[in-house]
Amino acid sequence: MCLGVREGEHCRCCMNFVGCVICAIILSAAWIPSSGGVPVRAHQGAAGSVGRLLREDGGIQTVLVVSNDGHPDHFASVQAAVDAVPMWNYLRWVIYIKPGVYYGTVVVPEGKDYITFLGESAKRTVLTYNRKACDKKLDGSEYTILDCPTVIVDASNFLAKGITFENSSPKPDDFDYNSQAPAIRVSGDNCAFYDCVFLGWQDTLYADQGKHYYKDCRIEGNVDFILGYASAVFENCTIHSRGEGFITAQSRWCEEECLAASNSTFVTSNSAFVILRSNITGYNLATYNSTGTGLTYLGRPWREYAKVVFIDSILGEHIAPEGWVDWLTDTGPLFAHDYVYFGEFNSRGPGANSSARIGWSHRLTEEEAEAYRDVSGFLGTRNWLETPPSLEQLKESNMLQEKNWSGQEGYREKFPPRRWKRMGDRDGEP
Ligand SMILES: *[C@@H]1O[C@H](CO)[C@@H](O)[C@H](O)[C@H]1NC(C)=O
Ligand SMILES: *[C@@H]1O[C@H](CO)[C@@H](O)[C@H](O)[C@H]1NC(C)=O
Ligand SMILES: *[C@@H]1O[C@H](CO)[C@@H](O)[C@H](O)[C@H]1NC(C)=O
Ligand SMILES: *[C@@H]1O[C@H](CO)[C@@H](O)[C@H](O)[C@H]1NC(C)=O
Ligand SMILES: *[C@@H]1O[C@H](CO)[C@@H](O)[C@H](O)[C@H]1NC(C)=O
Ligand SMILES: *[C@@H]1O[C@H](CO)[C@@H](O)[C@H](O)[C@H]1NC(C)=O
Repeated sequence: MCLGVREGEHCRCCMNFVGCVICAIILSAAWIPSSGGVPVRAHQGAAGSVGRLLREDGGIQTVLVVSNDGHPDHFASVQAAVDAVPMWNYLRWVIYIKPGVYYGTVVVPEGKDYITFLGESAKRTVLTYNRKACDKKLDGSEYTILDCPTVIVDASNFLAKGITFENSSPKPDDFDYNSQAPAIRVSGDNCAFYDCVFLGWQDTLYADQGKHYYKDCRIEGNVDFILGYASAVFENCTIHSRGEGFITAQSRWCEEECLAASNSTFVTSNSAFVILRSNITGYNLATYNSTGTGLTYLGRPWREYAKVVFIDSILGEHIAPEGWVDWLTDTGPLFAHDYVYFGEFNSRGPGANSSARIGWSHRLTEEEAEAYRDVSGFLGTRNWLETPPSLEQLKESNMLQEKNWSGQEGYREKFPPRRWKRMGDRDGEP
């Protein structure tokens, strides 16, 4: 396996050792951040201007407005607004995305931290594109799950509220698990999403790495549609299966000793998906002819130490009675599930009947569940979690006041780029 590409399962680019090495070289070249560290004047090369917003705590936030109504003071694309944020930024920038459908990809690169995407509501602000892994690039090489998502967040302290993230690639054939098409990949630390919607089929929400908090969100897909290595809490979300498949594919890959030995900033000791107080809903049973014992699994392990817990959640009748399943290949399970940790506590609803759950899943104790209910304890949110500004606050602000960036030199020295090591860069990846 290399760089997030699942061996044998996915991109042809990485089917054997040599292929993987070449794939890794191509990818690592492609992933050098487009930094330069030079502060960008906010309206350089893009229509749009900058305003400031006084926060309740007296701090200043900078506001960029994106619309597709042709207003001269607005940025015409989300990417143009992101491009206007200086590298190695440490002040909060709000990109207010007015209602509309924005077609195209967006990359928030490493180093452009503290950006907020703010929409009026997820119903009205939609960021969409339709690229899949294995689609061809102009140079003939193929996209992978890493660079095909509609929105890519490599920056930390990213916030979003009231936005739909969509990958509009068509529904793959039933049981085709080779159609990775994420709506978003989140690879930064300390990222939070409120009232957001994530739409896709396979691999919709790639919670790649870092600590993430998803609150009041809706996530749709069919196969592995919440996946990755992040420590992520999904609280009060609706997680909707559009068809048979697997909700989660968590990719925790080692235990404490391995974590301690690793030099990666982003290796975390509590990689896990915590689905908390959420509603797990399913595809239309009339269409899919299920008899109340569905064929959607709560998860399958992408890697050996995968960890997922569902706490205080409602499970629809589309959930398979076994609950969880091995990562099966044509010849059997990809690996023994000895170190996988899949658990539930206080599941309710028609899919919650635990009598047929696989033997290697866990029923948490009240005490264990309590540790996950403490979101702040689990994610350390007291140190980083910010709530996005309200729209009212934003509208009252003087959004078009220009900001002078010439005082910004020295950001790079003050806030050097963090060390960066992707999970797949490790030697000996299976
Ligand atoms: C849960 O989410 C719903 C819909 O997004 C929202 O109306 C409600 O206020 C949320 N409840 C809590 C307790 O956060
Ligand atoms: C971690 O970094 C140190 C210093 O750069 C190096 O000596 C050590 O071998 C590295 N360990 C691993 C596991 O890569
Ligand atoms: C959960 O989703 C189902 C199906 O959409 C809905 O009928 C039910 O009211 C929801 N429950 C809660 C608590 O939101
Ligand atoms: C649903 O599936 C069952 C079992 O395969 C079959 O007997 C039944 O005819 C199907 N019903 C419909 C409406 O297709
Ligand atoms: C749970 O499922 C078993 C069969 O797997 C069944 O015998 C039992 O009645 C079910 N319990 C409830 C509460 O539905
Ligand atoms: C911008 O700030 C720099 C340094 O603080 C100052 O020298 C310069 O005059 C300012 N430019 C404008 C247009 O205000």
